[in-house]
Amino acid sequence: MKTFDTYLEEWEKNAKKDAYWSVLSSPHYETTPWDKEKFFQAGKHEIQLLQQYVADSKLPIPFHGKALDFGCGTGRLTQALGSFFQEVCGVDISAQMISSAQEALPEDYQNIKFIHNPSPNLKLFKDNSFDFVYSNIVLQHIANNHQMQYIKDFARITKPGGWIIIQLPAERIYRSALGKLKGAIVNVLPYRFKKKLLVLLGNRSRALREFDSEMNTCPESRIKRLAKDNRLEIHHIAYTNSCEPDFCGNLIFRTYSEASCIPGYLSPMYFLRKY
Ligand SMILES: C[S@@+](CC[C@H](N)C(=O)[O-])C[C@H]1O[C@@H](n2cnc3c(N)ncnc32)[C@H](O)[C@@H]1O
Repeated sequence: MKTFDTYLEEWEKNAKKDAYWSVLSSPHYETTPWDKEKFFQAGKHEIQLLQQYVADSKLPIPFHGKALDFGCGTGRLTQALGSFFQEVCGVDISAQMISSAQEALPEDYQNIKFIHNPSPNLKLFKDNSFDFVYSNIVLQHIANNHQMQYIKDFARITKPGGWIIIQLPAERIYRSALGKLKGAIVNVLPYRFKKKLLVLLGNRSRALREFDSEMNTCPESRIKRLAKDNRLEIHHIAYTNSCEPDFCGNLIFRTYSEASCIPGYLSPMYFLRKY
């Protein structure tokens, strides 16, 4: 199993190679570099889609108060949340990501703060200090034991009545029984070896070769137990396209029966309320 320091080094390397692309990839890596304006527009679009879904589903989630964007990268979503919340804090494991986020922040966003936290927990934040926590395409790149610690910390730092919206893939869905067998074999290989094998087998995506970001799943049953033990009510679960190669902030919400037929990762987004 990789150590926490290995994850940290990998994200520093990713950020140095190309912070924007390692945060949000698409199948067009080779031909289209990220345009900064489009990149931040993709953050605004994602938050608009989230708010629309919350409204359509009649979820009683207010978008005001103090928010945390966990795994903020270059601040794509932090900036978007900054238009609604009085205070937003973006936290990331990588110092390079945080300095890119600060560099890209327009001067008029006085309500946004970025914090470097190269630590497997959120001890830096006080209990009951946030109204809202959001994290998309982050927990999937974190080892299971640390995912659990961060979720416990989300529960601790959120005020009673506050909301935590987090995406974390639950399982891999295969196209066929043979695909499932191949997947099971590949899964037991160490990540670096697995990556080389995927490239050899024809997955020649340059993003896959350039950036290190291991995918880790966590079964829904584990999140349900964790929620119960940490004063979190699972108010709602939707299944997103966050793990799909063409995601790019175009957040789609599906039901379980729709999502479970699509090969790739089953990617629940949990809407948790602290009681
Ligand atoms: C795929 S990027 C997503 C960034 C951002 N959420 C977005 O959607 O634009 C994943 C981010 O999570 C950060 N990250 C990975 N492990 C982390 C950890 N243990 N604590 C905080 N941030 C972490 C990485 O440095 C990277 O910036």
